[in-house]
Amino acid sequence: MAGLGMICVWYNQIMTVAERTKYISDSYNINAVYAARLLHEYGDVSDEKLQEVISKKPKPFVKWVGGKRQLLQQFKDRGFYPPASFNPAQNTYFEPFVGGGAVFFDLLPLKANINDINTELVITYNVIKNNVHDLIEELTHSGYIYDKEVFLDIRAWQTETISDLKRAARFIYLNRTAFNGMYRVNKSGQFNVPFGRYTNPQICDSVNLIKVSKVLTHTQINNKSYKYVLDEAKSSDFVYFDPPYYPVSKTASFTAYSNDVFLQKEQEELRDTFIELHKRGCFVMLSNSDTPFIESLFAPYKKDGITIHKVTAGRNINAKASGRGKIYEILVNNF
Ligand SMILES: C[S@@+](CC[C@H](N)C(=O)[O-])C[C@H]1O[C@@H](n2cnc3c(N)ncnc32)[C@H](O)[C@@H]1O
Repeated sequence: MAGLGMICVWYNQIMTVAERTKYISDSYNINAVYAARLLHEYGDVSDEKLQEVISKKPKPFVKWVGGKRQLLQQFKDRGFYPPASFNPAQNTYFEPFVGGGAVFFDLLPLKANINDINTELVITYNVIKNNVHDLIEELTHSGYIYDKEVFLDIRAWQTETISDLKRAARFIYLNRTAFNGMYRVNKSGQFNVPFGRYTNPQICDSVNLIKVSKVLTHTQINNKSYKYVLDEAKSSDFVYFDPPYYPVSKTASFTAYSNDVFLQKEQEELRDTFIELHKRGCFVMLSNSDTPFIESLFAPYKKDGITIHKVTAGRNINAKASGRGKIYEILVNNF
């Protein structure tokens, strides 16, 4: 970074926007979509200021099973983020299975459209977007404390009968206090993860919630099935699919994010959606488990410009130590 300040003085006079974006991306080891946002929002500020902004970047507000946090550096380094021909100032980033949004918060696109089928999660995104100060007030002053009795009481609330504000507070509280931050519901849709053991869990990270609220301002948030993307994505938009994974073995435990299943037929339909967007001229990327079935879904399209990559991923949701080894995931893209 030495000497960067001096370079900054003159680089804006001789570089195009694309070159300046690349310059910021390379200098600060950040992805080009985020670099474009920084350039758009801050223009040519000093490198100290930029460094400060980057160090205060918002982060996901929930822990989410299948979260992509560990893969972000690989995504950037291996070129899995959209190519330079994706223009974040003009085109939209879609994440139809957003969950905790590790990739969304890494990219921080100027124009974004996110979605999840989990209604409690989407209500929470919306409350953070529209009503963050009341949410912070609720979480800090209405008895959301780390205590087993309180946990069981809040867990038993019937969500349809309470306000969106309380639903969002309950969702964040349960995410911070339930076992392993898991989200699982029973057949009637009631959250049923047991109390988790933590030392002093932080239930309300107000500073981060406010930052998240700001970046959601220009983000469209939906609570639909992922196929809505077919009605909305246009040529040159970037779509990232991170669906519930196809199980690696018959005994592999299933993670219920909602009551909706995502098995063979659903994975085939998702592949068809991917191909349709590909034909439309979107940049498309999809994560899934490294299984022969998932590979067989995409292998016939290699001749059409679809590539199947392997990425290494750590897993920590499996309770058995033997399940914690390094495993591979598949990443499919068309660029
Ligand atoms: C693997 S997780 C995504 C994790 C996310 N990338 C992250 O970083 O936290 C899959 C998500 O898909 C959602 N989901 C399941 N079925 C869906 C469907 N048919 N349409 C949209 N979202 C769905 C789940 O609620 C869950 O949040």
